[in-house]
Amino acid sequence: MGRDEEDDKNGGGERRLGDETASSLLDGTGLVCVTGGTGFVASWLIMRLLQRGYSVRATVRANAEGNKKDICYLTELPFASERLKIFTADLNEPESFKPAIEGCKAVFHVAHPMDPSSNESEETVTKRTVQGLMGILNSCLDAKTVKRFFYTSSAVTVFYGDGSGGGGNGGEVDESVWSDVEVFRNQKEKRVSSSYVVSKMAAETAALEFGEKSGLEVVTLVIPLVVGPFISPSLPSSVFISLAMIFGNYKEKYLFDTYNMVHIDDVARAMIYLLERPIAKGRYICSSVEMKIDEVFEFLSSRFPQFQLPSIDLKNYKVEKRMSLSSKKLMSAGFEFKYGAEEIFAGAIKSCQARGFL
Ligand SMILES: NC(=O)c1ccc[n+]([C@@H]2O[C@H](COP(=O)([O-])OP(=O)(O)OC[C@H]3O[C@@H](n4cnc5c(N)ncnc54)[C@H](OP(=O)(O)O)[C@@H]3O)[C@@H](O)[C@H]2O)c1
Repeated sequence: MGRDEEDDKNGGGERRLGDETASSLLDGTGLVCVTGGTGFVASWLIMRLLQRGYSVRATVRANAEGNKKDICYLTELPFASERLKIFTADLNEPESFKPAIEGCKAVFHVAHPMDPSSNESEETVTKRTVQGLMGILNSCLDAKTVKRFFYTSSAVTVFYGDGSGGGGNGGEVDESVWSDVEVFRNQKEKRVSSSYVVSKMAAETAALEFGEKSGLEVVTLVIPLVVGPFISPSLPSSVFISLAMIFGNYKEKYLFDTYNMVHIDDVARAMIYLLERPIAKGRYICSSVEMKIDEVFEFLSSRFPQFQLPSIDLKNYKVEKRMSLSSKKLMSAGFEFKYGAEEIFAGAIKSCQARGFL
């Protein structure tokens, strides 16, 4: 077993409260905002920010009945009682993020409409995503305290290139490459919804343009499948997808020619790393593990023999061909990835077992 989930919760190896620089965030008080606090990525980021010494304002949305959600997995985190404050905000009400953002030095915008079972149109999802984003960005300017804004973008914004920018047909892509929505639309088998691809592209573009025009420092993290342990109670969709061979949901289209992945803790570490750099700007691809489908199959069968893996004829199985993602920009800035395939899969499986999903 790789890194232990409990160790992660206890912040093994991270700077501790009391370290002078831990909460200095450039020049300020160390107050930061994380949107979509209940989610897989955001809850882990909040845990790491608290451990690092930051004071965190997390936004959550009210559930359909307007009732409060059970978010004890956030409020019971180490240091939460002293330094975590929960606010209610919804992308459908762009102004609702304002109170949470006021006085913050940085904002991590992680919330996104992610419901795969939703029948909402591409236009509806994109409108909600972009209007919510613009409300958050305007609140950042109004606050006059926000130095840097982070957007969690997705590798779908670079995967579907036409090849002219270095991507296409299995090539390596860097931050200069953008997906072409038409290339995505022309794919025979779509493993991700068009509303997700279009809304992520629209939001990342709008955030970067806003930064150029307003002077707000905008950083976008372009991430592939995020996998590893989780503290949120529901099964993260990216964990479900990455473990398709174990869950048996591969028939639902979740097999890729190449698995581009990153450990959840490396995502949080990269965001905090970029938060604390004097200079950080624009897009950063954050991807560390790339495995071909047969390598994943071999790895899971030999490392986790307790699971009955399907006998897939990998050579004849039609799978999506994916690009290589280059994280050179992030690594040139000094960031080092800490986790590989072992920790990614072992952490995910351990959390799934702990919650009865496996
Ligand atoms: N996980 C990955 O592999 C991956 C890869 C690339 C990029 N990303 C990006 O990372 C971010 C987080 O992903 P995740 O995997 O952590 O997803 P997640 O667990 O589904 O979290 C999504 C969060 O967004 C919130 N949200 C949804 N609709 C909202 C609305 N109308 N108003 C306010 N909040 C809303 C959800 O709140 P509820 O709890 O109320 O539903 C939840 O907290 C997303 O932007 C995603 O595009 C993720």
